[in-house]
Amino acid sequence: MKLIKTIAEMQQFSKSASRNGKKVGVVPTMGYLHSGHMSLIDHARKLADVVIVTIFVNPTQFGPNEDLDKYPRDFERDWKSCEQHGVAAVFAPAPEEMYFPDRSTWVVEEKLSQGLCGQSRPTHFRGVTTVVAKLFNATLPDVAVFGQKDAQQAMVIKRMTRDLNFPVEIVVAPIVREADGLAMSSRNKYLSLDERIRALSISASLSDAEARIKAEGRKALGGIAEKIAEKIAASGGKVDYVEVRDADNLEPASESTSCLLIAVAAYFGVTRLIDNILINLN
Ligand code: PAF
Repeated sequence: MKLIKTIAEMQQFSKSASRNGKKVGVVPTMGYLHSGHMSLIDHARKLADVVIVTIFVNPTQFGPNEDLDKYPRDFERDWKSCEQHGVAAVFAPAPEEMYFPDRSTWVVEEKLSQGLCGQSRPTHFRGVTTVVAKLFNATLPDVAVFGQKDAQQAMVIKRMTRDLNFPVEIVVAPIVREADGLAMSSRNKYLSLDERIRALSISASLSDAEARIKAEGRKALGGIAEKIAEKIAASGGKVDYVEVRDADNLEPASESTSCLLIAVAAYFGVTRLIDNILINLN
């Protein structure tokens, strides 16, 4: 497995793989890899001959009072995990390699990035779209795999890829959960044992909502967001949002919605967790 730190070398590596007829896949990450990331890598390996994992804690997607400085990092462990999962190259650039000090260009998606996480993290998605565009230009992939856990991010990236004609297929892989239902996230590390137990109310309330909607159909949708929020608040969570949206376009769910996305963000202690569920209504 190759460690690549510069954009020039990354592009060379990828071009050479493509010249040799190999399909190149990328899994962009911020490191501190867990089983959720590993499932993205395994997914990418099924779709591509050569899989690149990028490890870059992207400063531009963190707000001024967010956790950039304390975002968990463990490169040695990430390296071993990538090796064990058949990754061909890890692209781990320094911030100076990715960003010019006098940079003045952003990639901004203006519709799907509004609301949900975009409401409480107003500069987050332009940081994500900018870095993902740059990572695509560095790794030159045929296919890129993202996780459904960041549902809004995946939709924003798909839209950016389409709108800017990046020749990259975007694949979204399912959420991976701990045995007790907690969606895997690098930020789970911040939770105390008590907060972690209380945070199970997120996945539990989403599962309850799914069961109710499956049993009662669309009529169960009235008040469903409030019920989820109440359950999370009753477990001591501070709800940022619970949104019931159309999974195809992120519009509020309506009569014509065929697949629902119920998305949640809530704080347990200082840790902001997100989770979501897709529910087919047909
Ligand atoms: O999902 C993440 O880990 C990040 O937002 C991403 C896509 C790697 C961009 O920094």
